[in-house]
Amino acid sequence: MRLPEPRGSLTRALCTDLSTGTLSPATVQLAERTAAASTDPLTDEDLQLALAICYELHYRGFDGVAEDWEWDPDLLRLRAHLERVHTAALRELAGELEVTDEPVDRQLTALIAADDGPSLSRYMARTGSLEQWREYLALRSVYHLKEGDPHTFAVPRLSGRTKAAMVEIQADEYGGGSPARMHSELFAGMMRDLGLDAGYGALWDDAPAAAFASVNTMSLFGLHRRWRGAALGHLACVEMTSSEPSRRYSAGLRRLGFDGSTTVFYDEHVEADAVHEQIAAVDMCGSLVAGEPALTGDVLFGATCSLAMDGLVARHLLGAWDAGRSGLRRERALAA
Ligand SMILES: [Fe+2]
Ligand SMILES: [Fe+2]
Repeated sequence: MRLPEPRGSLTRALCTDLSTGTLSPATVQLAERTAAASTDPLTDEDLQLALAICYELHYRGFDGVAEDWEWDPDLLRLRAHLERVHTAALRELAGELEVTDEPVDRQLTALIAADDGPSLSRYMARTGSLEQWREYLALRSVYHLKEGDPHTFAVPRLSGRTKAAMVEIQADEYGGGSPARMHSELFAGMMRDLGLDAGYGALWDDAPAAAFASVNTMSLFGLHRRWRGAALGHLACVEMTSSEPSRRYSAGLRRLGFDGSTTVFYDEHVEADAVHEQIAAVDMCGSLVAGEPALTGDVLFGATCSLAMDGLVARHLLGAWDAGRSGLRRERALAA
């Protein structure tokens, strides 16, 4: 994948430095200043893209960017400035979380039931036009083309029943041994059916900050052992909130004339996540906090962040569409 188009002074400096091979101290300082000055880090295009670029070095990297950058101490220092404000913004959004003595799966269920974010799946089921569907998939492709990967970073931090439960879920995300059934591949197929470029990272330049904020949150949790509880809470929340919306997304595509060969990504999630929900909440999170009760708050924090990031994306798209605008960063015909 190519380095993305810069969205401000920080990403401009960062992309230049990564391609020339020298990280300038001025770029690290710029990251610190950008982070300190950002009034809303989660919707800050320059900040979120810079953080996504830093994290991408742990996934597939960029054409023309040396692989050694992944563990460059100065780049990690730059990233830490961005992570600090990103995490603070998540904490502020999550607010005070009440931890009770109830089993953690019930606390997760209650948290999800209390969420009052807008329902994008209802809109896409009933109203979403083909072009809005393309925008939605373009935005979501930032995550779904690496579906499973951010949470998988947490696996080596776990043990016993918790680890086995997570691997059981992730094995399905990766197609249970069949590359064509990998969820990322099913998503790519759906993109192609709607005329979109399904190349890994191909639509990054179209995706708004909210798309990166959502994936950066997962990368943050997956890549830091300290956030293993949040990574698991986040994954559990994804699994627990996927089945019903997937049914609606599938219905939305059928309404537009697509059949099961296109909706298979969603149909798969209706089935799989009804099963994953229990494994994630009871086996995975339940056994984690049984062994480490102090992580309960982090599990709930991760789940809250998942709901909050879904809300951020939904409000971004629905707000833009309501105002008659594109929800993407640049207005252009998306279909090939
Ligand atoms: Fe999946
Ligand atoms: Fe799943």
